Amino acid sequence: MDERRGSLAAVNAEALTAEALAAIEGAASADELEELHVRYLGRKSALKLALREVRDRETGMALNTARQAIEDAFSAREAALAAVPDDDPSFDPTLPGEAVARGSLHLITQLRRRIEDVFLGMGYTVYDGREVETVWHNFDALNQPEAHPSRDPRDTFYFDERTLLRTHTSPSQIRAMQAQDPPIYLVSLGRTYRRDPLDATHTPVFHQVEGLAVDRGITLADLRGTIELFTSAIFGRREVRMRTSFFPFTEPSVEFDITCYLCDGRGCPVCKHSGWIEMGGAGMVDPNVFEAVGYDPEEWQGFAFGLGIDRIAFLRHGLPDLRLFWDNDLRMTRQF
Ligand code: FA5
Repeated sequence: MDERRGSLAAVNAEALTAEALAAIEGAASADELEELHVRYLGRKSALKLALREVRDRETGMALNTARQAIEDAFSAREAALAAVPDDDPSFDPTLPGEAVARGSLHLITQLRRRIEDVFLGMGYTVYDGREVETVWHNFDALNQPEAHPSRDPRDTFYFDERTLLRTHTSPSQIRAMQAQDPPIYLVSLGRTYRRDPLDATHTPVFHQVEGLAVDRGITLADLRGTIELFTSAIFGRREVRMRTSFFPFTEPSVEFDITCYLCDGRGCPVCKHSGWIEMGGAGMVDPNVFEAVGYDPEEWQGFAFGLGIDRIAFLRHGLPDLRLFWDNDLRMTRQF
């Protein structure tokens, strides 16, 4: 699904909202309402598909407004239908109902979608990158030195000398910039692969979320504000701390922490008594990266960030071990 440059969301948000609201208002039963829910807000609905394909902020915002209006209409209609007294004398509302076993989405999928929603709400687009990448996109274009240890075949899964399983979501930055002109505001989420030994905080397959903003006059303050909005949407209002760091593709580079969501910064076993939780890496896009994709670094500035979704999920829910995400033990998955 890369390089979908031309396939803009072809949905007229206002017309769709008007159509959906009229249909919802006319629904006479819960079953009918459920069918409409699938049609207008289901995974394959025109609106959800359009949201996934959005490539500019205005369309993203218009589609999100439409989604909110439709969701509100569903809630209102649901409440109205529930309030209608049942006049069938054979209906006994005191009888116990039949329990229906319901599955749920995997915790990582839930969190992926939540993160996408937060950024769509800020006018970002969602960009699908590739899991099988070229060495050029994964390392070279990202200014990674030839001798960098992460290129070592003991750390990275190679197919051949030019192809590998991506070690991070950062090559999505390169593909997106090659495919479109600035300004860009995107997030890219997905699986990443490293030959890390399996333990409580490392798995060889994990998930990352990448963010990239390219525009005129972007500063580190914009990065900080964006991270603050994002972390408060996921963890509740938190303080964000940036520490200087190094990544070859950002200059300056930072790592950011948030005050521990469990102890609120007072210190506890989850934050190893530091009061802070590490969230990920970020920085201002290095001019060499802009040059690799043909952008003029004198004209455009940008920030990028990347963080591990598995670790966020595990911290957010106080889980003891990342491997639990892969065991598919129902005693664990049923809790979410
Ligand atoms: C990167 O991967 C950079 N691409 C992030 C970045 C993007 C920096 C854009 C600047 C600009 P790092 O190697 O630190 O950085 O990995 C980011 C996160 O991935 C880590 O904080 C961690 O949460 C997660 N992670 C890394 N290795 C594993 C692993 N084996 N298992 C689970 N999570 C991991």
